Amino acid sequence: MSLMCAILQALELLLIRNYIPQRSFFIALGHDEEVSGVNGAQKISALLQARGIQLAFIVDEGSFLLDGFIPNLQKPFAMVAVSEKGAINLMLQVNMTPGHSSAPPKETSIGILAAAVSRLEQTPMPNMFGGGPLKMALQQLANEFPFPANIVLSNLWLFQPLVSRLMERNYITNALVRTTTALTMFNAGVKVNVIPPVAQATINFRIHPAQTVQEVLKLAKDIVADDRIQFHVLNAFDPLPVSPSDDQALGYQLLRQTIQSVFPEVNIVAPGTCIGNTDSRHYTNLTTGIYRFNPIYLQPQSFSSIHGINEKISVQAYETQVKFIFEFIQNADADPRPVPHLHEL
Ligand SMILES: *[C@@H]1O[C@H](CO)[C@@H](O)[C@H](O)[C@H]1NC(C)=O
Repeated sequence: MSLMCAILQALELLLIRNYIPQRSFFIALGHDEEVSGVNGAQKISALLQARGIQLAFIVDEGSFLLDGFIPNLQKPFAMVAVSEKGAINLMLQVNMTPGHSSAPPKETSIGILAAAVSRLEQTPMPNMFGGGPLKMALQQLANEFPFPANIVLSNLWLFQPLVSRLMERNYITNALVRTTTALTMFNAGVKVNVIPPVAQATINFRIHPAQTVQEVLKLAKDIVADDRIQFHVLNAFDPLPVSPSDDQALGYQLLRQTIQSVFPEVNIVAPGTCIGNTDSRHYTNLTTGIYRFNPIYLQPQSFSSIHGINEKISVQAYETQVKFIFEFIQNADADPRPVPHLHEL
């Protein structure tokens, strides 16, 4: 929301100065990003695709200047998310013949399903550290850590197992190394003295970029390992492709340049994964370079206020957002590099 206002305000400032861009750009503001973007971003993307538009890159929200998320890392760093986790909403269901509770079967649908979801909760999906942008980011951050972490992170060929274990200890870094499993709904039972005919549970998985919907479903079935339980996929999508972050990646390099100019105190710009979802997934046909970065500082203590109680942004942080967008548009214009070759849609 603040980013949307900042974009519009930056445009207004550019217009006041009679700014005429050399490199064309689109501003795409959907109204329903929080509820999947099917009437906003999806429609905008479909229209652009119908017009045969190809984009050099896209910048969206979804990552921040991270301050205090990684233990022992003194300074904040900028994480530009080059991928985004996938998701599955999976409903498990057990059906049973209803009966009177005075002569119950050995297990009821509630007992069967409760045991199954408990197994899912107790058996985390595998740690995928090393299979995404995170490893690259930690290598870039290595020198920002005090001894001995700097040595450990500079030598991931040796210390990868240790680092991947350490990442699991905190619930935010844990979400970066694996597909997460969250039991979110459980419904069963009709009456105090009736054997429940149906029990249903819903599980929300957020899929690591190195896995797919099919792989996670297979793992979940193996963990549940009970034929009496039906699997219903309510909706699902794979993780987004990993966008390039090398020297030739125009969007990434322009973001890096603007971050270094607007936040001179930040030494490191590193690629990462967005653990939530953004409108970006509707735009994958338009470009291979999708970068998620919101130019504000995020601390762990303010993380829980996102979509929570007392969500807020300081006036100064908002002004910096405006300044960032204002500079970014002009930096994109000043860059003489041609738009990278794109394949036909
Ligand atoms: C991308 O293009 C393919 C082929 O035209 C289409 O089936 C798909 O729905 C498009 N995806 C998105 C996210 O627009």
